[in-house]
Amino acid sequence: MTERTSIHGQWSNRIMFILAATGSAVGLGNIWKFPYITGENGGGAFVMVYLGCIAIVGVPIMMAEIMIGRRGRQSPINTMRSLARDEKTGSAWVLLGWGGVLAGFFILSYYSVIAGWALSYVFRSAVGVFNGVTADGAHSIFSGLVSDPERLLAWHTLFMVMCMVVVARGVRHGLEKAVRILMPALFVLLLVLLGYAYNTGAFQQGLDFLFTPDYTKVFYNCDFLNGVENCTFDGGPMLIAMGHAFFTLSLGMGAIMVYGSYMPKHNSITGAAMMIALLDTAVALIAGMAIFPVVFANGLEPGSGPGLIFQTLPIAFGAMQGGQIFGTIFFVLLVFAAWTSGISLIEPAVAWLVENKSMTRVRAAIWVGMSVWLLGLGSVFSFNVWSGEEFQLFGNTFFDLLDYLTANIMLPLGGLLIAVFAGWYVSRNSSVDEFNMGDGFIYKIWRLVIRYITPVAVVIVFLNAIGVIDWLLSKNLLW
Ligand code: TRP
Repeated sequence: MTERTSIHGQWSNRIMFILAATGSAVGLGNIWKFPYITGENGGGAFVMVYLGCIAIVGVPIMMAEIMIGRRGRQSPINTMRSLARDEKTGSAWVLLGWGGVLAGFFILSYYSVIAGWALSYVFRSAVGVFNGVTADGAHSIFSGLVSDPERLLAWHTLFMVMCMVVVARGVRHGLEKAVRILMPALFVLLLVLLGYAYNTGAFQQGLDFLFTPDYTKVFYNCDFLNGVENCTFDGGPMLIAMGHAFFTLSLGMGAIMVYGSYMPKHNSITGAAMMIALLDTAVALIAGMAIFPVVFANGLEPGSGPGLIFQTLPIAFGAMQGGQIFGTIFFVLLVFAAWTSGISLIEPAVAWLVENKSMTRVRAAIWVGMSVWLLGLGSVFSFNVWSGEEFQLFGNTFFDLLDYLTANIMLPLGGLLIAVFAGWYVSRNSSVDEFNMGDGFIYKIWRLVIRYITPVAVVIVFLNAIGVIDWLLSKNLLW
């Protein structure tokens, strides 16, 4: 087979691919979502399942996505079509590409609204609103923001425009520039916050919450009925932990695949995947360690939901020396982290429009961005005008549903199919050739894991969440 090249260009070098993919992975998922879902799902045990999923599901699938992307050298839709043809298998695999484009639209539509909160906090912090703020004060500042649809809409619009501008400028001039300085700076600021958390007096309590697993508390729902404890198994948190492993590593929808399609030949895929997963996990854990001590020191509720960091970090900044400046820089960097993630969510769709509809990148970015913006209105209103019960489904707002559907269903399903495709449909020769590391120990491990362990793990977590495993156990059908 002749080597393909990408019409969209290539990263300048190996480091740029790692930086861009890390830019995609590290985002609101690490700093906003990880702490709040960990808080809602009881802490340590949830974190352990999440870490397990990063290792046995996340890293192998990331390697598979990069490998597929670099072999196809096109948008995920066309890459899947080409590889399915190369491997002489069904053309239905192209649907995986389409599913990914859809998931990207869905995710960015609410992601942008949350990024808007971060944008607004840059300005709040800069003018000193957080100086000396109490827990109640931080709470009312946050409620004031989300209950105002016009302000949310304005920030959401600004963030979408920012994403469109970068994607329109393309691989080298847009995507690369943004990540080079900002990612390391974010890391440093997180360490500053960690230092503050260390001195809150509740550091140990925060660590215990994050790292001491209590499996019975997280995976069982217990009630006391007439003084008798009655527990039922609940696989939901496990699915949320696995879904988050996909979300935080940007897997399951083609974002890493499309970035892989711009990766120079001969760069190590394994090394890159490990590095990205490691950095991403480190950022999430540090964010958790910085936030939970503040939560406990101020008597706040770890399970208070999507507003968690927006109601805790201002207290930390408000109380520390130079907090006005640190806070401002922190929210700027959070916006950048979200920005470098946001662009990867629409790159697959934009690349496809350029390839198939011969649009310029600029036009493609505008079309895609406007569609996502429109869908985002649903999430803007979820926090105010549509927050009432008459607009909810099973107690969930539009935002909740979109988040659940994408992170816990679409991404794991996409990831499962990617694993099956890479392990069973891409021939051994093709994958050995593309990984370019021989067929030694590491390759054999990868192939074993991607063929058997990853798919089985994803299926088990799914079955678990809908209660099938518990049902089988209760009927003694499993062993
Ligand atoms: N990983 C990013 C975060 O943690 C979000 C993200 C970017 C994403 N691209 C993605 C999630 C692709 C799923 C799929 O904030």
